[in-house]
Amino acid sequence: SSLYRRLFGEGEILVATHREPVVWVERPPEETRKSAAPRLRYPAGGVSQSLHRLLLQTGGDWVALRSSPGPNPLTVSLPDQPASYELHRILLSDPNISAGYQRFANDLLWPLFHEEPGRVLTHPGDFEHYQHVNALFADRMATLLEKRHNGFVFIHDYQLALVARGLRPRLSKNPPPLAFFWHIPWPRHSFLTEIPERADIVRGLLEHDLLGFQTPLYRDRFLESASELLGDEIRIRRQTVLWQGRKIHVGDYPIGVDPDRFESLAQGPEGPGLARKFLRQVGMDPEIPFLISVDRMDYTKGFLKRLEILETLFRRYPEHVGSLRLLQIAPPTRTTHPPYQSYQTRVRQAVRETNARWARDGWEPIVTIEETVEHRTLAPLYRLAAGALVTSTNDGMNLVAKEYLATQKDAGGTLFLSRYAGAAHGLRDAVLIDPYDPEGSARIIHTALEEPLAIRSGRNRILREEVLRHNIYEWMESILNEVHDLKNR
Ligand code: G6P
Repeated sequence: SSLYRRLFGEGEILVATHREPVVWVERPPEETRKSAAPRLRYPAGGVSQSLHRLLLQTGGDWVALRSSPGPNPLTVSLPDQPASYELHRILLSDPNISAGYQRFANDLLWPLFHEEPGRVLTHPGDFEHYQHVNALFADRMATLLEKRHNGFVFIHDYQLALVARGLRPRLSKNPPPLAFFWHIPWPRHSFLTEIPERADIVRGLLEHDLLGFQTPLYRDRFLESASELLGDEIRIRRQTVLWQGRKIHVGDYPIGVDPDRFESLAQGPEGPGLARKFLRQVGMDPEIPFLISVDRMDYTKGFLKRLEILETLFRRYPEHVGSLRLLQIAPPTRTTHPPYQSYQTRVRQAVRETNARWARDGWEPIVTIEETVEHRTLAPLYRLAAGALVTSTNDGMNLVAKEYLATQKDAGGTLFLSRYAGAAHGLRDAVLIDPYDPEGSARIIHTALEEPLAIRSGRNRILREEVLRHNIYEWMESILNEVHDLKNR
């Protein structure tokens, strides 16, 4: 926050995300009078939590879709924080608009940007609803910008690609910089041909002054798409796009976690006890080695590939049968979308089959917990695990990989990281697996599990340097610095 003040003086931040950074907990009035317990809960998620903490230092405004009850705007403050911010909550009262917007984002953009055209589900009129919701964001933000002089505007992710299109024409003479971060992959250009509105989306993104991607690969693919789709309309000079008389900076900013927090939760006085208690509660013996996976139950996370890898491991290296388990923390997600419903049903069925095939004397290879687990329990679980298994078939970054490494100080747990996760770009020394190659992956996992501790912890030492360096604060700082440079160019 001091960096922010140095760069932006008194200007305030205006953030826009699809999801709200806090969840309002409704309580009956008599309970509210008696209880001093906070009414706000925080959904897990590194990005929104770090922006949330920044705004509690600097003040500002945040616009998001309303997903829980409570006042609007909602003042978000914490007793020990110097500032507060206002959360402006957009309510979609027409269920058709809401459904169309969600479908365009999650049943068209999401699968195509993850190169899964088979999962696409379209419906006439969805794009209009998507545009409409983005325009609602732009309206609310334009009104806020009229009232205050803002330091900069920071919009997030594929659900809000067209907000700046509505916002740009309504900015004052001396507008704040508009920054945007695209959290998911940018695919090979051929996948975009399935989206009739692809050029609108690219133009919408070019309405910003700064456009951030997770890796240089996604950044370059975006530039390629822009040049394919807009041709003579644009000029590209390295990381700068010239369009309609403006310069747009297109950069890569790998997002990170708060490693100190995970490290101290993992090793703090409460941690190990919480993790052991959790394991016992889910019927696992804390003394038996286990691998851990933590993902929303989304098809991009490769749950079925993970099962194939595990089954191959048991078949090829039977010494693991009865002595190695997989703990899957897999909260269901987007459960009203048919592609998710059928995927989640298939995953549950496949897990049952694998368990039935390999069960021995009261031992089952896979334990699935369909709930989010709080960081204070999750961090020590990571530390206890013999390895973390990340099997995404495509993933913008994958912060679980970084969270896991954050907990492995002087420890030898192995990160098995899909080569298709954005995280594999920065974590070059990680043990990479290919979820499309169960044989190869099983061999790699077996080999790494057998390695001496010195090798495993030596590898973690190197990997942790990257996690510590490219943490969430550094991510925020590099974006703030870039935005500031643009403003003064
Ligand atoms: C990904 C996206 C986020 C999204 C999150 C959860 O990480 O990049 O924008 O919020 O998934 O998805 P959900 O649909 O539950 O918000």
